[in-house]
Amino acid sequence: MWRSLFVNYGKQTKIGEFLYYVSQTCHGIMGLRSHEQLVVGVGVLFLVTVCVTAFFFLPAGGADLYFRDEHAIQVRDTFVREREEVRRKQQEELIRKAEEAIPAPIPKPEIGAADDVEGRRTYVKQMIKFAWDGYRRYAWGENELKPNSKQGHSSSIFGYGKTGATIIDAIDTLYLVGLKEEYEEARKWIETFDYKSVVKGDVSVFETNIRFVGGLLSIYALTEDKMFLEKAEQIATVLLPAFETSTGIPNALINVQSGRSKTYNWANGKAILSEYGSIQLEFDYLSNQTGNPIFAKKAQKIRDVLSEIEKPDGLYPIYLSVETAKWGQHHYSMGAMADSWYEYLLKQWIATGKKDTKTKLEYDEAIFAMEKKLLFKSEQNSLWYFAKMFGTRVEHTFEHLACFSGGMAVLHSMNEPNQTVAKHYLELGKEIGKTCHESYIRSATGIGPESFQFSASIEAKTERSQDSYYILRPEVVETWFYLWRATKDEKYRQWAWEHVLNLEKYCRGKSGYSGIRNVYNSSPDQDDVQQSFLFAELFKYLYLIFSDDSILPLDQWVFNTEAHPFRIRH
Ligand SMILES: *[C@@H]1O[C@H](CO)[C@@H](O)[C@H](O)[C@H]1NC(C)=O
Ligand SMILES: *[C@@H]1O[C@H](CO)[C@@H](O)[C@H](O)[C@H]1NC(C)=O
Repeated sequence: MWRSLFVNYGKQTKIGEFLYYVSQTCHGIMGLRSHEQLVVGVGVLFLVTVCVTAFFFLPAGGADLYFRDEHAIQVRDTFVREREEVRRKQQEELIRKAEEAIPAPIPKPEIGAADDVEGRRTYVKQMIKFAWDGYRRYAWGENELKPNSKQGHSSSIFGYGKTGATIIDAIDTLYLVGLKEEYEEARKWIETFDYKSVVKGDVSVFETNIRFVGGLLSIYALTEDKMFLEKAEQIATVLLPAFETSTGIPNALINVQSGRSKTYNWANGKAILSEYGSIQLEFDYLSNQTGNPIFAKKAQKIRDVLSEIEKPDGLYPIYLSVETAKWGQHHYSMGAMADSWYEYLLKQWIATGKKDTKTKLEYDEAIFAMEKKLLFKSEQNSLWYFAKMFGTRVEHTFEHLACFSGGMAVLHSMNEPNQTVAKHYLELGKEIGKTCHESYIRSATGIGPESFQFSASIEAKTERSQDSYYILRPEVVETWFYLWRATKDEKYRQWAWEHVLNLEKYCRGKSGYSGIRNVYNSSPDQDDVQQSFLFAELFKYLYLIFSDDSILPLDQWVFNTEAHPFRIRH
């Protein structure tokens, strides 16, 4: 009876079918009698019941025993599936986050493979990508990235608001190294960026010019995409009221909204040589490309004022009154507050296809005076350096910033028609490149300090803790880049490569690169700032030093002081 019951029932259910076959098997193969079949059948039924119950009712990680009826089971199953889906998604999210937090290691080329130039170039490109990814993820649209605290960094020179300084400073480098998606994303951001409505407060005329106007002009020069030119003109237009002084020498700071401008409080009505002296490359190029002459006129006015006034011993003091065009204190330097004035005289001559010969003459006189008064050689190893001078007092300090002068001398030598003069400046460039290299290798990190001293007891080092930091500055690598282009001496590539490895070792932070507080400490603290000029300058020069000369050949391109390339106007 139980068999027929199950036979009937078994036609309708899989379980019944199964039990039917069990009983048939017992009967047919094992030859069991019917009461034995009953015992086996009941046993099997019991086992099957236990299994089925377990399958449906055992808790799957919660109070699922409440689900008893079939509808409830369906609801429960759906619920379980959904929850599993959520859990799976959470897990994927966690894995994704973990992967983001620990960036994929950069495939390192074999150390010592000096002939693997392509490998080294690729390595630099990977560094750029790592630094960019960190900025993009944690500080998109901000000035800069704090790579260890993973948030935006603001610096008052750019004003307030989402100024995207890193995007604008980096975009030509992204383009040059072939980070295409990154370039496109940066371009989209710039396309919708309205400087005047986004940026608030006082901004530095100089920094805004070299980074924003310069950055946009260079990506325009590389791509010929007019959108960039329009943005450059919009921003340069915001700066124009700063030039409305009685002399035409611009004030250092301008308020983006009100257009009111002023000198730095500490400068007491004086403008700074490097600042008002680093306008002309950008403003001339802008006028030439837009056809709007206002910018070139403003830059020319500054040059006219400087041409006319008397230079003490042919030197240019770093302070000049914006109201009277009289010099302030007679402080002289090849570094901070002076540097790019000299650089722009030389490059103005080059940028005009060497047509602006008046500027070349002024450059020659200025650099000759600087050499005569401020170029020294160390007692110990005859290392060449430019000192600073306060009135008649000489301070034997050379700055990391002033290391650019080696590259400037080399660029001069490459363009100088007089071979005697050219030879001399190539030598000067080599010697400065060597001195700055010495300042690097005499530290625990292999990275040079912000400034260093020379005396009977000290050579190319500093004992001042306030001068011992490094903030991803490019000037030393910049000089090695020009030396590499001019001499093809492999040692410059090797020095640059050692800097790459030291950046990795000491400056690499959690989501980008950081400055370090003391180059003489073998485990230095990081300052947690990824400067925008890391992309514009240091990364660009490092990439170029491991590239062919046909990438930005120096007879067709000239770099502004933020390493943004413009086309030479032949
Ligand atoms: C731009 O410079 C080129 C080369 O010097 C010159 O031929 C051209 O006329 C200039 N354009 C403008 C608008 O100044
Ligand atoms: C080249 O420069 C040197 C040093 O200033 C000078 O003595 C010489 O006359 C110059 N040569 C020519 C051809 O101008």
